[in-house]
Amino acid sequence: MKDTTYPPSDAIVAGAHVDAAGYEAMYKASVETPDTFWGEEARQRLDWIEPFTKVKDTDFTLGQVKIKWFEDGVLNVAHNCIDRHLATRGEQTAIIFEPDDPQTPAQHITYNELHEKVSRFANVLLAQGVMRGDRVIIYLPMIPEAAYAMLACARIGAIHSVVFAGFSPDALANRINDCQAKVVITADSAPRGGRRTPLKSNTDAALLHCSDKVRCLVVKHTGDQTTWIEDRDVDVKAMMEQVAPDCPIRPMGAEDPLFILYTSGSTGKPKGVVHSSGGYLLYASMTQQITFDYHDGDVFWCGADVGWVTGHTYIVYGPLANGATTLMFEGVPTWPDASRFWQVIEKHKVNQFYTAPTAIRALMGQGTGFVEGHDLSTLKVLGTVGEPINPEAWNWYNDNIGKGKLPIVDTWWQTETGGHMITPLPGATPTKPGSATLPFFGVQPVVLDPTAGTVIDETKCEGVLAIADSWPGQMRTVWGDHERFEKTYFSDYKGYYFAGDGCRRDEDGYYWITGRVDDVINVSGHRMGTAEVESALVAHAKVAEAAVVGYPHDVKGQGIYAYVTLMNDIEPTDELRKELETWVRTEIGPIAKPDLIQWAPGLPKTRSGKIMRRILRKIAENDYGALGDTSTLADPSVVDELIENRMNRG
Ligand code: WT7
Repeated sequence: MKDTTYPPSDAIVAGAHVDAAGYEAMYKASVETPDTFWGEEARQRLDWIEPFTKVKDTDFTLGQVKIKWFEDGVLNVAHNCIDRHLATRGEQTAIIFEPDDPQTPAQHITYNELHEKVSRFANVLLAQGVMRGDRVIIYLPMIPEAAYAMLACARIGAIHSVVFAGFSPDALANRINDCQAKVVITADSAPRGGRRTPLKSNTDAALLHCSDKVRCLVVKHTGDQTTWIEDRDVDVKAMMEQVAPDCPIRPMGAEDPLFILYTSGSTGKPKGVVHSSGGYLLYASMTQQITFDYHDGDVFWCGADVGWVTGHTYIVYGPLANGATTLMFEGVPTWPDASRFWQVIEKHKVNQFYTAPTAIRALMGQGTGFVEGHDLSTLKVLGTVGEPINPEAWNWYNDNIGKGKLPIVDTWWQTETGGHMITPLPGATPTKPGSATLPFFGVQPVVLDPTAGTVIDETKCEGVLAIADSWPGQMRTVWGDHERFEKTYFSDYKGYYFAGDGCRRDEDGYYWITGRVDDVINVSGHRMGTAEVESALVAHAKVAEAAVVGYPHDVKGQGIYAYVTLMNDIEPTDELRKELETWVRTEIGPIAKPDLIQWAPGLPKTRSGKIMRRILRKIAENDYGALGDTSTLADPSVVDELIENRMNRG
């Protein structure tokens, strides 16, 4: 059976930056003559203080992995996102801020105002002794100050690392320590969905585990009372009033790190993904404009949080590099009710809207009544990101939000890739529900045989997804551990960047991402390492052992399923189950809370002691027929016991 295909409408094609013929020609140029292609893009899209003479210097060979773009070029990211726009669009809105509570007025921040706020913020950082190359942790709600803080770092050449406000004090402390941050920027509290997360007190708790030299800059946002430690805590807004409204930009090398963003992997603690200044910004700018077919004057809304890479690239850096109007939303899709997204689109006349399949599924479950009556006629392009979108959700989005007329861009990419990798382009690519379709410029996907590691040449095939050559937005290294970078991404399949996803390619050459093939699960579009949840669980005094796997979840895509073996004399009770859930919440954060905990008297292990997750995944999925070979288990009877317990819980 052929998949249903949705060609771009004539209306979209007519005004699009890139049409089908354009895509073909540009793609060809981007992979055949990358130096010319990217050199031109970089000169056109960005302002350089010192022009680069070299474009691409990259190597995927294990042991000597090197990724450098525009290496001898000098630029400043904040200048590119703010200053250079002032002459032509100083009075244009740069950021629309829509607060959590719909009763609180929205804010429109012009490029002129952005320039002043960022400059003042930068001067506050300088006054705290933050210097070029220093690390600054940003642990803030979704408020304009988050963008000011990021751009202030860029302005003075400091490296920011945003920590999602949903992370716990422990997770925050680990990140502060890993990158040896000089400063942490936080707020009193973060309102979300009518509730408040006490960010300042979380930060206080985190800082107990950090060097006492770390300064704490506090944005008074809600006015909630917090503790105050003289000589350590600084009132950012008050300080911003006192410093100069102007701050010179710091010229930076294209390869100087712009930010670090921690992300979970299949092993060990979260990795600090390092992104560059030049290549990253170029890639952010190009993908934001072309994937969403953004045109001057459009209002662009990426509904992600700045704590994730999606927020970095598509709330802050991409749109602002393009002189766009970008919307920052503090709230959640379902509060005060499930019409909030559509209200915001109507209120701010949003033209491009970008969200995650999990949000679509959650809203789909609430019925179309919440969509009806909202004027969504300004919308031109819809996007999704974070996980494979199931055709039901795709169709719901298409029918109810796109009214059957708008292109949907299902964008596959990762924290590591900086920007879109496989995605339709609105005016160029016929879409198929559930497929991320075709590669962006410069991206050379290959499908590899998972065991042999060889490239599969047939168009129609299935295997693991890898990338054959570098693109400007690629991460450069793991903070402080280049060897881990090489080992994680370049050692399983020699000569390729291995993304960790499986995929199939159909007869039209379209890519369909089938999900992670490693021990990473995707919960509501957020990446969670099973090892991380396991180590949180075993850190509890009553837990002897734990194994965590993903299982299909209607709204979240995948849920967290934890098998827990208790210490000898401990009784498994519902109370203890709750205690463990709370424990994981406080160890990592609410997103890591197990959806299901199953008591496991024993775990299926090989004779060498390796847990056989394949079996645990099948049991979690309620799929007992396909357990495969269990004969290599040290004690095959544990499997029967687990199945019996699983069935008992329904
Ligand atoms: C993983 C990366 C990059 C932004 C958000 C997540 C999955 C992401 C898609 C998509 C299928 C997707 C992959 C990927 N993923 N987008 N459109 N279709 N899967 O970033 O936390 O770095 O997670 O998310 O499994 O490897 P991340």
